[in-house]
Amino acid sequence: MGKVISIANQKGGVGKTTTSVNLAASLAFYGKRVLLIDFDAQGSATTSLGVNRSQLKGNLYDALMGEKKLKDVMLTIQVSDKNKLDLIPATIDLAGIDMKLLEKNDHLYVLDSILNICKRDYDYVLIDCAPALGISTLNALYASDSVLIPIQCQFLAIDGLTQLLNTIRVVQKNLKVNQRELTIEGVLLTMLDKRTKAGWAIVNEVKEYFQEGVFKTFITSNVAAQVAPTYGVPILTYQPKSSAATLYKSLAKELIENNENKQ
Ligand SMILES: Nc1ncnc2c1ncn2[C@@H]1O[C@H](COP(=O)(O)OP(=O)(O)O)[C@@H](O)[C@H]1O
Ligand SMILES: [Mg+2]
Repeated sequence: MGKVISIANQKGGVGKTTTSVNLAASLAFYGKRVLLIDFDAQGSATTSLGVNRSQLKGNLYDALMGEKKLKDVMLTIQVSDKNKLDLIPATIDLAGIDMKLLEKNDHLYVLDSILNICKRDYDYVLIDCAPALGISTLNALYASDSVLIPIQCQFLAIDGLTQLLNTIRVVQKNLKVNQRELTIEGVLLTMLDKRTKAGWAIVNEVKEYFQEGVFKTFITSNVAAQVAPTYGVPILTYQPKSSAATLYKSLAKELIENNENKQ
């Protein structure tokens, strides 16, 4: 059964989408069967993978509304000669999704219920969350086994994290009733400018706060990470030898080891 991981932080611009796309591609690189779900109305993960929105047969909105099956809106993206991943695309249709979900029974479990049918086809399912803690992000959390929290190595990095952690705690409590668990997969430090003292100060602050919960791999600032989406490909395809490509591969390896070496 695939492990479902939400990439979440209600702050925008912290590297959620970059991490979702490139971790997904790197997991695929290591031979894992990966499904990436774009749960942001901006559709940045979708465009970062070169998908032309006008050619879509449907998107996550249609699946959540029960108008289409998840499989019917799914796209297969070739990330290299040998590796591919599946994508549930998003469009601006998702903009009003929170209100729509509220009209449904069990409105916090809509994604969970449609995902249940197909998660056995994957090793990992990653969900790129929107920069909010509304009903859609809650749907992602209720469908997940764990949360990966990207934190940008900049001033006020951990500001607002209490809110996210409190939300996670509430979800954990509610899932427990159904004998399910939501763990914190790890905190990922992103966009570290290694030349600045301020950047390293944030690294230390976050490590002090989360202790062992921080991934050993941290992502430095890198031009390739910024440019790859404009070519509609993951960094691994755009510049396989760049530090960002190496770092996201290292993150994928760390995540695989954390999960698959467990007894
Ligand atoms: N490692 C990195 N180095 C340089 N720029 C980055 C890096 N990671 C992300 N970015 C850029 O930072 C911006 C925000 O990243 P994004 O992944 O879209 O964040 P979010 O999804 O949290 O809003 C984007 O313009 C992205 O290209
Ligand atoms: Mg994003």
